[in-house]
Amino acid sequence: MKAGFHRAFPMASKPKPVRKAVLPVAGMGTRFLPATKAVPKEMLPVVDKPVVQYAVEEAREAGIEQFIFVTGRGKAIIEDHFDHAYELEMLLSAREKTNELHSLLEGLPVTGAVSFTRQQKPLGLGHAVWSARHLVGDEPFAVLLPDDLLVGKPGCLAQMMEAYHRVGGGAVVAAEEKPLEDVKRYGVIAPGKADGNVVEVKGLVEKPKPAKAPSRLCIIGRYILQPELFAELDRGETGAGGEIQVTDAMARLIGRMPFHAVKTTCDRYDCGDKVGFLHANIAVGLTRPDIAPALKAILKSVQTE
Ligand code: G1P
Repeated sequence: MKAGFHRAFPMASKPKPVRKAVLPVAGMGTRFLPATKAVPKEMLPVVDKPVVQYAVEEAREAGIEQFIFVTGRGKAIIEDHFDHAYELEMLLSAREKTNELHSLLEGLPVTGAVSFTRQQKPLGLGHAVWSARHLVGDEPFAVLLPDDLLVGKPGCLAQMMEAYHRVGGGAVVAAEEKPLEDVKRYGVIAPGKADGNVVEVKGLVEKPKPAKAPSRLCIIGRYILQPELFAELDRGETGAGGEIQVTDAMARLIGRMPFHAVKTTCDRYDCGDKVGFLHANIAVGLTRPDIAPALKAILKSVQTE
């Protein structure tokens, strides 16, 4: 670690553990119609698991104990997905389909570990996170945007947790360098000092025009945040796209707590985008020994066509 790296952020006490995660899943999925007319976009499968389950598993690997879903109308099957399915479980057990039974049970959080609240109105990501304020209470929390599928070991949130404890807590976001023409789709970071893959955050701008972007370092959908964020979101101020933005509320916390970005080593797939979603399916499929050989053969034959 470079000398003086933490001098700007003296933190006396050990950071509080991050036990809760908020998963905003209220989006309408208009980019995937007609598939998402009756099925929430978070339930679309990457190989054989719904997109949202990857985020839950990543959070669990990072030590999260409580999963708070911010849902909307038409999202009830997400609740069913994280519950027991007794008929199915009994049937699989009676037929001795142990692998299938195991795959159902291993993805299941323990009783009482999941809760659901509704966003009610589509007023932006900041509003979705704010909808979870009473369930989060007065403690640090993570936010995972399930559309962003992050693949790697250790997982992205686990990498951020390690940095959170190393830098003395505060706020931590995951980040990735993007081509300049793409920064208009992201929250963009004004970077300060860097220590390996951990970069101080000096400023944040949501969806800037390339000419106004402070860098090409963009936030991807993982956050560790402090409850002070809710007071900022309470103001209900709108930003880019006329929506209440998490980025704007976070920007107002800079200087009040340690604030860092972790350049994750995980691969990110934007499952909110058709091509990104197909890419995720191919990439995850190629990591799966049960289907990789057949998938590789298909990809080869497609390439030569
Ligand atoms: C949201 C955030 C943005 C972030 C992005 C990552 O944008 O507002 O700051 O960079 O997620 O995926 P959205 O994709 O909801 O427009």
